[in-house]
Amino acid sequence: MDTKILTASQADLKLAGRIIREGGLVAFPTETVYGLGANALDENAVRRIYEAKGRPSDNPLIVHIARKEDFAPLVESINDKAQALIDAFFPGPLTIILKKSERINNTVSGGLDTVAVRMPENETARAVIEAAGCPVAAPSANTSGLPSPTKAKYVIDDMNGKVDAIVDGGDCEFGVESTVITLAGDKPVILRPGAVTKEMLESVIGEVEVAQAVTEGMAENEKAQSPGMKYKHYSPRARVVIVNADKEDYEAFVNSRKKAFALCFEGDNVNCPKVCFGRERDDLSQARELFDALRKLDEMGATKVYARIPSKTGVGMAVYNRLIRAAAFQVIDLKKPFTIGLTGQTGAGKSYVCERLEKQGFKILDCDKYVRELYENNTGLREILRAEFGDNIIENGRIDRRALADAAFADRESTDRLNSIVHPFVVSACEADAKGLCVLDAPQLFEAKMQDKCYKIISVIAPQEIRLKRITERDGISCEQAKQRMSAQHSEEFFRAHSDFVIINDGRDIDKQIENITEEIL
Ligand code: TXA
Ligand code: MG
Repeated sequence: MDTKILTASQADLKLAGRIIREGGLVAFPTETVYGLGANALDENAVRRIYEAKGRPSDNPLIVHIARKEDFAPLVESINDKAQALIDAFFPGPLTIILKKSERINNTVSGGLDTVAVRMPENETARAVIEAAGCPVAAPSANTSGLPSPTKAKYVIDDMNGKVDAIVDGGDCEFGVESTVITLAGDKPVILRPGAVTKEMLESVIGEVEVAQAVTEGMAENEKAQSPGMKYKHYSPRARVVIVNADKEDYEAFVNSRKKAFALCFEGDNVNCPKVCFGRERDDLSQARELFDALRKLDEMGATKVYARIPSKTGVGMAVYNRLIRAAAFQVIDLKKPFTIGLTGQTGAGKSYVCERLEKQGFKILDCDKYVRELYENNTGLREILRAEFGDNIIENGRIDRRALADAAFADRESTDRLNSIVHPFVVSACEADAKGLCVLDAPQLFEAKMQDKCYKIISVIAPQEIRLKRITERDGISCEQAKQRMSAQHSEEFFRAHSDFVIINDGRDIDKQIENITEEIL
């Protein structure tokens, strides 16, 4: 098909309207993103939209109008809250869902009994809709799954040869799609955040809920309130990962990575190729530039992209919602004190895993070492232990570790008491030294309740015979003693259930296992 590229001249906009009225497809700019329009009342024309985009047929389209009075015929009725929102925000970047009237066919509504309606503010958009003289169904004018187009050139990239015409009307003002709110149920719910924020909506109609899928992704068996929520979205070819960190930590992290691309804010200081999406603390600039930035990264051939995290407030919620989908919900949380919590069975070979991770640039925080140092130097801890376990555990003013072990490992209760005293000291000492990418090497990770302070948990396990051999050789103890020590520990099932990753150290491909894990989490 030959696609006409039109301008925003009167004559071209008239032509665009006529093409739509007669069953054709025309892409045109709106203040949010470019839309791909067809006559909403013509089922065959609407079907062509789904084809051109490669869009699943159960994902309904938004119906666009040019005048407020064109809303009523599309719906069963307009309730008070809907009317208040129309008065406050139409024309503008807000879409309202209500029960549909019989004028709305099932192709537009994706088989639902509701319809989404929006009146754009953009002059070109309204001129096209007015010239068409009918309600215009228009999803974003991108290939399904790709970032929505905010410039005519991206529409041409995706739609040339698939649609009748594309109106080049310059760059879009907001850059993210409209806010979608449903007023068809008991309570108003935001199904997709946009430039009309939750706060703005609440100032007009009172409490508004935000669908959980907006920021969190959907549970596997959850039914989508809005079919668009369940599809992969805004995805560039590159793998995008969001980094939850402040500016400096983000910069240090990105600069430590190989072959990285940065999707960052203006002024961020990174050594790798970068694309900026707006300024920190300026959510409107981030919204305007995000999709453009994602497309640019593809043009640059990026394979791995680390993105700065937007705030989730105001229009930032819309930016975060789009970015988290582009990232397939992957967030590296560098705000946790420890990147990796490493634990596992005694004798399973944790030390070797530490060595490998250190080579990869992780800082290792060895809890056993911290315990030894605390016993040596921490007078506060010494006095607490003396009060708890008696003067016998002190020798020449210092803790006698053998005497302490005799007193504290005598029975379960004493052991627990010792742990509950020592663990908090270890946690704060490790936290004080944690910086950048670090591994908390903690045999007692779970006992010390440190799991929530780690971004990811790795447990190292090994078959019993291998552990037995290692422990007896390493510590010069008998089989019996080794077995007793092993039985005091968590089971393999426990480690499996409480860890993000399990390394099985039975001599085979251990380096590969470690590499795969760090590749996956960073
Ligand atoms: O800013 C925008 O809204 C742009 C411009 C072109 O107006 N349009 C747009 O359309 O983003 P689209 O099709 O890409 O996104 C429409 C979203 C989808 O997530 C869809 O599932 C949801 O709105 N939607 C449409 N009708 C619905 C309905 N009846 N119930 C629930 N969700 C609906
Ligand atoms: Mg879309």
